[in-house]
Amino acid sequence: SAVTPAVQDLAGTRAVVSAGGTREPLDPVRFLGNRSSGRQGVALAAVAARRGARVTLVAANVAADVLARAGATVDVVEVETGEQLREAVRTAAKDADVVVMAAAVADYRPASTAPAKMKKSGQAPVLHLVETTDVLRELVTDPPRAGQTVVGFAAETGDGDGDVLDHGRAKARRKGADLLVVNAVGAGLGFGTTTNDVTVLDREGRTVATGAGTKDAVAGVVWDAVRDLVGRPSA
Ligand code: CTP
Ligand code: CA
Repeated sequence: SAVTPAVQDLAGTRAVVSAGGTREPLDPVRFLGNRSSGRQGVALAAVAARRGARVTLVAANVAADVLARAGATVDVVEVETGEQLREAVRTAAKDADVVVMAAAVADYRPASTAPAKMKKSGQAPVLHLVETTDVLRELVTDPPRAGQTVVGFAAETGDGDGDVLDHGRAKARRKGADLLVVNAVGAGLGFGTTTNDVTVLDREGRTVATGAGTKDAVAGVVWDAVRDLVGRPSA
């Protein structure tokens, strides 16, 4: 509860957390975006701060009432696009022990942004998209600080190619992050809801933890897994 101080087991840890969903502009008034509320990322930042970490939260288009739940001790950097998020995360990560990529980053953005509002012409436009930089992958291949721990998130649904965990395990091996938090999405789960159901995988795709419940509870499971991996129990 609010009156019981959390165990300070992340004291001395410097963490960067990204949260929210990027917006890729088409013109000054329009963008391609996604439905990420930022709640899980904000919960990760808040829980880490309560456990003693120094936290920078890179927030992409997170509503003010959600952002407020990060708490006063979390440093917040607000961004809009995937490229801005990349820059902000990499800058903050230069001094970080752990980077957690909870943000939903666009995979594609418009090839160009119109300088003025696009007018209706009677001819439906075709949008040309280009791939964005994979920020998580780049943190693994080109770390801003040597030896830092990198954690990814993956919202998955089951399909004809496999179930949620099959996709999660394949992604864990592909991404090369130290930990990948796999979140089952779909009917009543994940985006826009207040509870989550997650499995934490290592870089080989092995399950190291599972958790369900509120986004604060899930955040606790993720930080426990990070703490166990980094092996720095203190205070
Ligand atoms: N991610 C990122 N930069 C991107 C896309 C994704 O850093 N341009 C990060 C997300 O923040 C998340 C992880 O990669 O931590 C997994 O994102 P996800 O969308 O599940 O993976 P993708 O590799 O983009 O695969 P797909 O969308 O095809 O499932
Ligand atoms: Ca993606």
